Amino acid sequence: MKKILLIILSLFIVTSSLVFANQDKEQKKEGDFFMNKKILIVYYSLSGNTKTIAQKIQKQFNCDITSIEPQTPYPDDYNELAYGVAKMQKEKNIHPPIKKIDFDVKNYNIIFVGTPAWWYTMAPPVMTFLSQNDFEGKTVIPFITHGGGGKYNIEDDMRKLAKGSKVLTPFVVYEKGDENTDKALELWLKEFK
Ligand SMILES: Cc1cc2nc3c(=O)[nH]c(=O)nc-3n(C[C@H](O)[C@H](O)[C@H](O)COP(=O)(O)O)c2cc1C
Repeated sequence: MKKILLIILSLFIVTSSLVFANQDKEQKKEGDFFMNKKILIVYYSLSGNTKTIAQKIQKQFNCDITSIEPQTPYPDDYNELAYGVAKMQKEKNIHPPIKKIDFDVKNYNIIFVGTPAWWYTMAPPVMTFLSQNDFEGKTVIPFITHGGGGKYNIEDDMRKLAKGSKVLTPFVVYEKGDENTDKALELWLKEFK
């Protein structure tokens, strides 16, 4: 009987030290800022660049992630898209209808919001997502991919749409990044205090 009790006790000690060791590792990973926060990643990506960055961020947190999908798909033809629909939506400030996402923003503290730069701002489906949800008291962290123009005023544009939120410093990268992107991403995440 004593022996069995001893074995159970040793098993308990080993298991709990493993659990605590793992917790410690998680906490140290991104510092205090992200600790005990519910994190969601939401992104729009037409050709996959923003999706690549979204997946890299997801790897860091193992959190929920979802894409934004417009109800009416954009045309495959680049000219028709860029100089037709996308330009018209930008000029007329149209927020195109999007499909319902699988997660409810209200259940999260931090929402990473990813967008490609489209006509000097975020892509219109991201505008729809930000204006349709309640961001009061939420932290929004943007990540932006672009074709050479940089981040423009996307941070401020997001601030105006995600009312009541705190919009923090975005991660900005050309197309889908390169061999330095993982390191840059890691450093960016460490900056949040
Ligand atoms: C309609 C459209 C408009 C764009 N406008 C810009 C722009 O104003 N500035 C810029 O640097 N890149 C622009 N780009 C390039 C994209 O921002 C870039 O390729 C981005 O990484 C694409 O992301 P995705 O693969 O996630 O869709 C535009 C691309 C498209 C399709």
